[in-house]
Amino acid sequence: MIAHPSPRLRQTDNTRRRGGPGLARLMGAALSLAFIAGLPVMARAETAAPAAAGSAEAGEKVFLKCRACHQIGAGAKHLVGPELNGVIGRKAGTVAGYSFSDAMKNSGLTWDAATLRDYLKNPRAKVTGTRMIFVGLPKDKDIDDLLAYVGQFDADGKKKP
Ligand code: HEC
Repeated sequence: MIAHPSPRLRQTDNTRRRGGPGLARLMGAALSLAFIAGLPVMARAETAAPAAAGSAEAGEKVFLKCRACHQIGAGAKHLVGPELNGVIGRKAGTVAGYSFSDAMKNSGLTWDAATLRDYLKNPRAKVTGTRMIFVGLPKDKDIDDLLAYVGQFDADGKKKP
């Protein structure tokens, strides 16, 4: 009879004392929230790293060397060379409305950072028989910058967000 109310009392006691550890738990939660909030920032920094290899701003200046023959951006048209909107990821020699050399059409290349790097360094070595008469860009940094600039435009010539 006496043993019955006493465990109940102890229970109430425990519930009251939870105010203490409760605060600690709240702080723990706040800490882990801060940690979780920190994660996307770190992940974003990591995905942004490859783009940081080149400067789109500097690349716009490098592109002046291409502009005699190529357009890019809103309303870009084929000139001597094809328009270059969305060229990264495009199969070589496939853009509609432009008449490519057989060498380009049959190159089997898909333009990615690596193939563009080789091509822009020495166009006629990468695609023997290409009609692109351009000496090439000898500096890796110019190519990095150029790719950052060109990579901004989607196939419609809009700048990617
Ligand atoms: C003198 C003119 C000229 C200049 C300068 C020039 N290109 Fe070209 N480009 C061409 C021509 C012509 C073609 C088509 C080649 C073919 O069909 O063999 C071409 C093709 C390309 C292609 C392949 C496109 C596709 O859809 O397959 C890329 C990429 C390219 N040029 C990038 C550049 C870049 C970047 C520069 C500047 C660094 C540049 N070109 C400078 C004339 C030029």
